[in-house]
Amino acid sequence: MSALRVGLVGAGFMAKAHTLAYVNARLLSPDALPPVERVRVADVDAELARRAASAYGWSEGCADWRAVTRADDIDLVDVATPNDSHAEIAIDAARHGKHVLCEKPLANSLAAAREMHRAVELAGVRHFVAFVYRTWPAMALAKRLIDDGALGRLIRLRAMFLHDYGLDRTLPLTWRLRRSSAGAGSVGDIGSHVIDLARLLAGEIRRVMARSATVIAERPENGSGLMRPVDVDDLSDVLVEFAGGATGLIETSWVATGSKMDLAFEALGDRGAVRFTWRRPMELQFYSEDDPAERRGFRAIVIGPRHEGAAPFWPVAGQGLGWGDAFTILLRRVLASTSGQPVAGAATFLDGLRAAEVVDAAIRSATEGRWVDLSPDELPVDPRPVLRRPPDG
Ligand SMILES: NC(=O)c1ccc[n+]([C@@H]2O[C@H](COP(=O)([O-])OP(=O)(O)OC[C@H]3O[C@@H](n4cnc5c(N)ncnc54)[C@H](O)[C@@H]3O)[C@@H](O)[C@H]2O)c1
Repeated sequence: MSALRVGLVGAGFMAKAHTLAYVNARLLSPDALPPVERVRVADVDAELARRAASAYGWSEGCADWRAVTRADDIDLVDVATPNDSHAEIAIDAARHGKHVLCEKPLANSLAAAREMHRAVELAGVRHFVAFVYRTWPAMALAKRLIDDGALGRLIRLRAMFLHDYGLDRTLPLTWRLRRSSAGAGSVGDIGSHVIDLARLLAGEIRRVMARSATVIAERPENGSGLMRPVDVDDLSDVLVEFAGGATGLIETSWVATGSKMDLAFEALGDRGAVRFTWRRPMELQFYSEDDPAERRGFRAIVIGPRHEGAAPFWPVAGQGLGWGDAFTILLRRVLASTSGQPVAGAATFLDGLRAAEVVDAAIRSATEGRWVDLSPDELPVDPRPVLRRPPDG
């Protein structure tokens, strides 16, 4: 298997998570995946790029992302920059024939997300969005149970992603807290993850009704320290209707006092239900009406090597995976796919676009105080062959 030569754009927080995953992805099963060459890291901050390259074992660091997107010695471009630069970098990479992995949300606007999807489809390259929670074993198991009919007809999906780091009033107005660079606040940032999960479990979203709030109205500007108004949401409640008939509620907040990484969902069908919380990431709670009446109740299914995504890690159920491993699972799918193996399970730019449509509709709904219908463009069906199961079981 020939090596996959990777170039990373963005040497910030995600550079560490992605690098760990590139290393671990192949280490878990060297015969099944191609070797990864960590060729080049680009960051507008050239010194940071050089330090990241040296610390994380990339051959070199540079300031210009075009030295990644246009380089002959790169096969996969990994975009881990703030949201407003995703489109320019990813589109340039696709036009130069590179496969692209892009961080979420796909873009800072619906128009940019559409262009990105069009560009990768036209170029015929492989494309992925780092919606890492859809590949998490307990989520994949929940989807399997729903698809297999173990819950009966899906009635309701509730999903939330809550943090409290936004309560810190000294948090500077970085790119994440500006509409122009981020595209949205909590509803687009952590929200795009739960929207993707909601779509994975309950199908396409038909319409939304959202209410958003900006709890900390002003924050210190990065650099000057002057207080400036915040133009993104700190929290959003999004009522959703799925095309399949189920109703749902998506809750996002980074001002949820006491919440640290509270990603959770509950899917209710007329024959069964599942519940998940990131506080117990190796468990899926399952309830079935098929159990004898006197024994009915939620039971914990402990995730282990029999479950999709978890198989290549540890031989004993419950030994546990962590947040970083979510990126490893995603990168294993990316490596398999770019080396020509037909693989399902990683989100594509189409999923990124679908999430962007929901975020855009939620912002319009919150602004205008009304239900907003989604009318996705007619998009080409993803032509790549897919397997029902990823190769790692
Ligand atoms: N998948 C996840 O769970 C997850 C988690 C956190 C962040 N993210 C996403 O990852 C992306 C990066 O987030 P982060 O937290 O690492 O941000 P960060 O601010 O820590 O790092 C971003 C880096 O990109 C650099 N940069 C900015 N513009 C650039 C350009 N045009 N060319 C090259 N470098 C540029 C900055 O100098 C900075 O070093 C965002 O899209 C974010 O939403 C995803």
